Amino acid sequence: MATENFKFDTLKVRAGYNPEDHNYSVAVPIYQTAAYDLGSPERAENLFLGNEEGFLYTRVNNPTVDVLEKRVAALDGAAGAIAVASGMAAIAYTILNIAEDGGRILSSAYIYGAASDSFKKIYPKFGIHFDLSRNFDNLQELEKEIKPDTKAIYVESISNPNGALVDIEALAELAHKYGIPLVVDNTFATPYLFNPIKYGADVVVYSGTKALNGHGNVIAGLVLESGKFHWDNGKFPQFQEKHYTQRDDKDNPRSFVEKFPDFPFTARIRLNYLNYLGAAIGPFDAYLLLLGIETLSERIQKQVSNTKKVIAYLEKNEHVEWIKYPSLETSPYYELSKKYFPLGTGSVFSFGFLGSIEKSKAFIQALKIFSYHANVGDARSLIINSPKTTHSELTPEEQNHADIEPNLIRISIGLEDPEDLINDLDQSFKQVFKK
Ligand SMILES: Cc1ncc(COP(=O)(O)O)c(C=O)c1O
Repeated sequence: MATENFKFDTLKVRAGYNPEDHNYSVAVPIYQTAAYDLGSPERAENLFLGNEEGFLYTRVNNPTVDVLEKRVAALDGAAGAIAVASGMAAIAYTILNIAEDGGRILSSAYIYGAASDSFKKIYPKFGIHFDLSRNFDNLQELEKEIKPDTKAIYVESISNPNGALVDIEALAELAHKYGIPLVVDNTFATPYLFNPIKYGADVVVYSGTKALNGHGNVIAGLVLESGKFHWDNGKFPQFQEKHYTQRDDKDNPRSFVEKFPDFPFTARIRLNYLNYLGAAIGPFDAYLLLLGIETLSERIQKQVSNTKKVIAYLEKNEHVEWIKYPSLETSPYYELSKKYFPLGTGSVFSFGFLGSIEKSKAFIQALKIFSYHANVGDARSLIINSPKTTHSELTPEEQNHADIEPNLIRISIGLEDPEDLINDLDQSFKQVFKK
């Protein structure tokens, strides 16, 4: 399906899929197969050389996964996309693809705990070092942190768990001034609320596990590219190395930018990292993710509306010290939210529990509707004490650096009736603070 002229809600149910290519099946079929018949030795040779389009082996590509990749690429206005087994795999392959020969990445300190911990623990052993900065609110200061070997800037469009926003357009300009890409984790926002590529981002990563899927039944990740970044600008020699595996029909080795000029970044992840490190998404999981995406707008609209109602209740509650949600007028990110998030800033927010840590645990325990677990973006409302769970990898000093206060409670609002959610919070507060 040509995608250019269709709007978001049409693309989310149709992009990337032609029924006539799949026995006229209306729903995207699940191709539950490890490999594909090669047909003939000639076809096999062409497929392996990449001179003919087709499927070889599900670790590298699969028709169900292919629809998912094309669909999300259409929603994000991306030139290329690759789906992988988890959000963490998407981040890992992105970092390695950019800085596999060492260097630095300038990342916001306000990011998902496991990402932050992996930046500290895993990558330095491979010569990739991270500067976790709190200067993303002040780009003049941030610029001073760009070093000669900085290879990328990394940020979450709505940060986990604090809901920090960044001026993505200005940040992209800053990155490009130094010939480096801007990588945006757009998990909390989803392409329905925000399109990082439109504002200059070069690479977008998703945990598909969250609101994209929306039903809490899949672990998945995606990497997308704008197709505009010049990977052959001299800072990323790996994109200019010539490989025999990417040879042309006269056996001349080619580089990734030569063979895949429109989407070298995701092509290189597919043929190097997915192929050789192997975190492939299964076709059934890709199918579940596609199913979730069909109702993305409707879910997010209702979740944003529910979130505002629950926050309005919490704002008046004497046991709530503060609320962090970027589109609140009291938020330091309110102006940015108006510019970048006209449809709302999602369904995740955090609040400071005014009371002892013991009481906050009792509060979580006394809830009847909210589920206590580590996901977000689910159809069900979820609650979690992030400092002791999703961000527990961080030391107290690191939590302080990431502005994660000890009394922080993170909430992800689902699709239930908002009145029931408010009543549930209310009965729990009353139970914990009863005289
Ligand atoms: C913002 C963000 N990015 C990435 C991830 C990792 O995703 P996954 O759990 O699918 O590996 C998470 C998980 O919570 C997240 O919140």
